[in-house]
Amino acid sequence: MIPISKPAFNGNEKRYVSDALDSGWISSIGAYVDQFERSFADYFGLRHAVATHNGTIALHLALAASGITHEDQVIVPDLTFIATANCVRYCNAVPVLTDIELDDWNIAPLAIEKAITPETKAIIPVHLYGNPARMNEIIDIAKRHHLIIIEDCAESIGATYNGKKTGTFGDISCFSFFGNKVITTGEGGMCLTNNDELAEKMRVLRDHGMSRSKKYWYDHLGYNYRMTNIQAAIGLAQLEQIDFLLKIRDQIYQAYIDRLKHRPEFIVQETHGQRNINWVFTLRMEGLDESRRDQVREILKEKKIDTRPVFYPIHKMSFYQSNQYLPFDCPNTNVISAEGISLPTFTDLTLEEIQYIATNLIDAYDSVKK
Ligand SMILES: Cc1ncc(COP(=O)(O)O)c(C=O)c1O
Repeated sequence: MIPISKPAFNGNEKRYVSDALDSGWISSIGAYVDQFERSFADYFGLRHAVATHNGTIALHLALAASGITHEDQVIVPDLTFIATANCVRYCNAVPVLTDIELDDWNIAPLAIEKAITPETKAIIPVHLYGNPARMNEIIDIAKRHHLIIIEDCAESIGATYNGKKTGTFGDISCFSFFGNKVITTGEGGMCLTNNDELAEKMRVLRDHGMSRSKKYWYDHLGYNYRMTNIQAAIGLAQLEQIDFLLKIRDQIYQAYIDRLKHRPEFIVQETHGQRNINWVFTLRMEGLDESRRDQVREILKEKKIDTRPVFYPIHKMSFYQSNQYLPFDCPNTNVISAEGISLPTFTDLTLEEIQYIATNLIDAYDSVKK
């Protein structure tokens, strides 16, 4: 089977993990946590990086530190990984599901405007599949309505918008280092901010809410959201290779495009000239519905090619089907979700494999389209 994703450990990962084990610092205190946080913040040119155990809780930590409560609404795209919306509910706040743009598949500024109420406190733009959301418009809306921006950069490390890295626009931005991400720590996440107060709040909440000056004294209801030194050892080694890992992603993107561009039914995300990092090569198969898209996936599975459907609209999940979560109209989300398919994307993927995948995708599409 050609997997959809596979991590690559070609740098200092084993050496740093072994060093962490030898040091005896295997939980969340240790030199690698500090170093990974420092290097991560430096990569973005920001002041604070707060490492967490995964990307989902990074989002929750960011919202909790921003003071989101049961009285608040937070605008999120209807088309995203479920954690973007769930983390709002962990704060007992209401995620307001909002439609995306048909061309770039990211949250639509006009839909945000329509969704704003007096209860709206924050927006979580997601840079889906590594393609930057329309940050100029989103920042403009946030300023006019005094809203917090939490960027969900789980899929977009290294992507740029108007020359600036995604993750440098929000009040806080959140990353995931799950095994399928561009850099991985197994499970892992990070919150990034330039705001000293928010950084301090996140550090306290991440560590059970414990006072930073008085051991075992708690001023807040906190969580254990810490990253381990072993995770950070892997993360530091991965971050050292990020330019190389992103370059390979670009090459894979171009190789797929070269083999599919003669077929206009295959439509990729519009980048508007921004840097899409091709987290996972994903395209629309125009004109297919969900069941025929799934037939294509079945055919590819028989050819030993692993694929993924594009995320399902969050409003379709049973636990979002109550009036308070009902989306405004989300027709674009429905289209992209039904037509979308993700193809294998990982560092060691060969050109021969890409050729094999592209040929089989075209054949599968033609056979189900008939
Ligand atoms: C857009 C998005 N947000 C949040 C997450 C959650 O990250 P994690 O899996 O590390 O909890 C993911 C990914 O996996 C994601 O793709």
